[in-house]
Amino acid sequence: MELAVALLAAALSLTVPLAGAHRPLADEVGARAHLTEILTPDRPFQTFLRYLQQTNLVEVFEKQAYRTHHGITLFAPADRAFAAVHPSVLSGLKKHQLKNLMMYHALAKHYALKEFDGLSRVSQVTTFAGGMYTVNVTCDPGAIRVQSRWAAAKILGTVYGVAPMAVYEIDRVLLPEAIFRVQPPVEAALPDAEPAASAPGAKGGNATTTPGDKAEGERSACRAAGRLDSYVAAMALCAASLVAAL
Ligand SMILES: *[C@@H]1O[C@H](CO)[C@@H](O)[C@H](O)[C@H]1NC(C)=O
Ligand SMILES: *[C@@H]1O[C@H](CO)[C@@H](O)[C@H](O)[C@H]1NC(C)=O
Repeated sequence: MELAVALLAAALSLTVPLAGAHRPLADEVGARAHLTEILTPDRPFQTFLRYLQQTNLVEVFEKQAYRTHHGITLFAPADRAFAAVHPSVLSGLKKHQLKNLMMYHALAKHYALKEFDGLSRVSQVTTFAGGMYTVNVTCDPGAIRVQSRWAAAKILGTVYGVAPMAVYEIDRVLLPEAIFRVQPPVEAALPDAEPAASAPGAKGGNATTTPGDKAEGERSACRAAGRLDSYVAAMALCAASLVAAL
């Protein structure tokens, strides 16, 4: 009898959260994403991935995501964000500086887009690189920005969002004062805010006729649509909070 009651209670406690529907179910939450698959070479994050591999951070970030209770948030500059930084800027860094720079693109906690509004009220957000490596988050209707000393990056969309790992595409490489005492040479004007992921021409060539491109284009379109959803939601939240603040 006691056993039956216990079983019933267990069954109820299981079914109640599920009845809430549409929330990610256990298998989705438990699934481990691999950074190398998220930033896979057919996406426009090859440069970022290469630096993460070079500095042995892939495993570090995955451990932070799946072996701590905090999770992780990554800001992934698209390839063309790296292209806007003069090659000498990154090639001139020592190994530990490059590693700090990559860790500067991570927060040691999972943040959903809707939580950036809260982050924007923190005056300095400490990154995975620690100490002096802080960013400021701003949340205006129209754009969530991550600001470093020498570059303000705009979040262009969600590359991966299932907790405890979040990866957001940004349009600039973040450049902290802790590494760069003076402004490094960076191209001022980027083609504005067009997510690299949905711009097939972003790779530089006129590769419009190879068979792979159509699939790439369609996937990009899907991602862009998904991106828009979460974006609109985040913007609505930002807007609501702005109104509430008045
Ligand atoms: C962040 O904002 C504070 C003021 O609130 C400012 O002193 C600091 O320089 C800013 N940091 C960056 C990286 O923009
Ligand atoms: C792409 O094609 C245009 C004309 O169609 C040409 O002017 C341009 O130079 C090409 N760009 C590359 C990178 O091949």
